[in-house]
Amino acid sequence: MENNETFDTHNRSAKQLAKYFKGIGPRIRHIEFALEQAGKNDGSASVLEIGCGDGRDAVEIIKRCRLYTGIDYSVGLIGLAKELLPAADFRVVDMQNFDYPYKTYDVVFAFASILHIDKASLRDLMNVVARSLKIGGIFYISTKQADRYKKEWKEDKHGHRLFYFYSPKLLARLAANNFEVASVELEVKNGKPWIEMALRRK
Ligand SMILES: C[S@@+](CC[C@H](N)C(=O)[O-])C[C@H]1O[C@@H](n2cnc3c(N)ncnc32)[C@H](O)[C@@H]1O
Repeated sequence: MENNETFDTHNRSAKQLAKYFKGIGPRIRHIEFALEQAGKNDGSASVLEIGCGDGRDAVEIIKRCRLYTGIDYSVGLIGLAKELLPAADFRVVDMQNFDYPYKTYDVVFAFASILHIDKASLRDLMNVVARSLKIGGIFYISTKQADRYKKEWKEDKHGHRLFYFYSPKLLARLAANNFEVASVELEVKNGKPWIEMALRRK
């Protein structure tokens, strides 16, 4: 699988990557926005985070919800997340193989994680995430943006990683069977365009 190298990098360089992610700071505004959109800013939400990494956003999500599960395929990053939040429910699992429970979550976050899967896989993921959300629940995606879908290998001090870039239009199309677009925001992070998209389960 061409993505094995990305997987290896997330394991081999877990500590350095976590240090880099931490430098970016937690996404408090986006977390609170998604909970509000789901009508669950009262602390009662059930939340799944896909690609939770070292748990830096989990710290903020857990303060604002009742039930939290974080999944990531990197043993190294989940190890760091467990050190940070020993009582939290973190699981080592590929987002494409997780056994998504039926109509369980109010919000599912995917912060900078679907950028590692291609569009056919993302279409499948949209379906399983939709199945696991309550009606009216929110799938919140933060991902790298381009005018057209493309893939790009990145090689830096952490290793090799493969990134997929999405346009807001393509994301909306892949989601259309199960979701309506609740909001789209285009942001520039480190000089690079990102999409912040909230999808509401129909
Ligand atoms: C760019 S990092 C972002 C981490 C974290 N969400 C953050 O913003 O700090 C991408 C994360 O997605 C995880 N990831 C990538 N592909 C995955 C997959 N197929 N299943 C589960 N996790 C995956 C990586 O291990 C890594 O933690």
